[in-house]
Amino acid sequence: MNQPQRFAPAKVDFDLTAIRADFPILREPVRGGRLVYLDNAATTQKPETVLHALDGYYRHQNANVHRAVHDLAERATTAYESARDRIAAFLKATREEIVFTRGTTEAINLVAYSFLQPRLQPGDEILLTGMEHHSNIVPWQLVAARSGARVVPAPITDRGELDVDAWRALLSARTKLVAVVHVSNTLGTINPIAELIREAHARGIPVLVDGAQAIAHVPVDVKALDVDFYACSAHKAYGPTGFGALYAKRAHLEAMQPWHGGGDMIRTVAFEGSTWNDVPYKFEAGTPDMSGAIGFAAALDYIDSIGLDAIAAHEHRLLEEGTQRLSTIEGLRIVGTAPGKGAILSFVMDCAHPQDIGTILDQDGVAVRTGHHCTMPLMQRFGIPATVRASLAVYNGSDDLEQLERSLAKVRRLFA
Ligand code: ALA
Repeated sequence: MNQPQRFAPAKVDFDLTAIRADFPILREPVRGGRLVYLDNAATTQKPETVLHALDGYYRHQNANVHRAVHDLAERATTAYESARDRIAAFLKATREEIVFTRGTTEAINLVAYSFLQPRLQPGDEILLTGMEHHSNIVPWQLVAARSGARVVPAPITDRGELDVDAWRALLSARTKLVAVVHVSNTLGTINPIAELIREAHARGIPVLVDGAQAIAHVPVDVKALDVDFYACSAHKAYGPTGFGALYAKRAHLEAMQPWHGGGDMIRTVAFEGSTWNDVPYKFEAGTPDMSGAIGFAAALDYIDSIGLDAIAAHEHRLLEEGTQRLSTIEGLRIVGTAPGKGAILSFVMDCAHPQDIGTILDQDGVAVRTGHHCTMPLMQRFGIPATVRASLAVYNGSDDLEQLERSLAKVRRLFA
């Protein structure tokens, strides 16, 4: 049942119509109707400026970077390295501290193999939290298994917050790294990373933060945080898929050995042995994804053209409205109710499995993710196999939430 009059519509202090017009795919009919895209934590849609940057790169700049003296090679190199400056500025880092990767997952694996593994001894521990994405669990398990170390998860409260006291109690002389998600992809919980970093550093323990779900929603200042490693992806921040970045303190990068070998990461190569390029290039073997970098920079320009504060305020209002609307659906329970959380609504219904709910919603053009969201330990913690997850972005509005509510009411009618 649709009762929008019960809710004050989310106040929009920027032009939502104009923002939507920036995203061509939002005009794409799905299932014969309007697309209600609420799967932004999986990947965001791309604005025209990003599409234009990607297209423009291949039309006007395409050549390999760092290798040739011809005009196109110079254009490509300049655009690619300007993108590094742009990404560094967005995170408040310096350019030498930004390693381009295929995304957050590869960035975490780089730290696991290149930074951590050589330091691990049998009995050492890597402290995680119970709300980590598989990409911030499995790489650590892989290197732990090679070294006789182990992964230790800190517990999560019923509201989906990290139990910071329990986390603190798990820090010890055995802890060789703390890895923690900034914004939980499943619950929306925003972890107190500044506090966690301070606590870990007080004990001499380096910290990696998984920022995949954060950078499009929360301002990040790696210098103010004093974080050792911060991993992020372009595609969850309106940029292209298959591209991301690792911020790492320069001293760490200098001390780390290369992970992938190949062209461009070397200074000299001889059969007797090779020497390495300067940071960050030491970690960027082979022809890189030039268009990915350029598209990522364009995406960050797009975010800044609206302003992260305005985006966060808009998403927060929508989250409140969405929470209110979902609370009117009988038998629906929101999973993850941490105060101040990000704009993610995960829920279960007593009448239907998340997969069936997702299928019904899709019939109405409502795109959500259903399943374990690559957080199986978190599902175990809450004793559920899966949730339905609606995750919001800058182009969502009250009409999307209204349709979500209407479609969930239909689920209720069909299954209850
Ligand atoms: N990590 C992405 C998600 O949460 C794929 O959906």
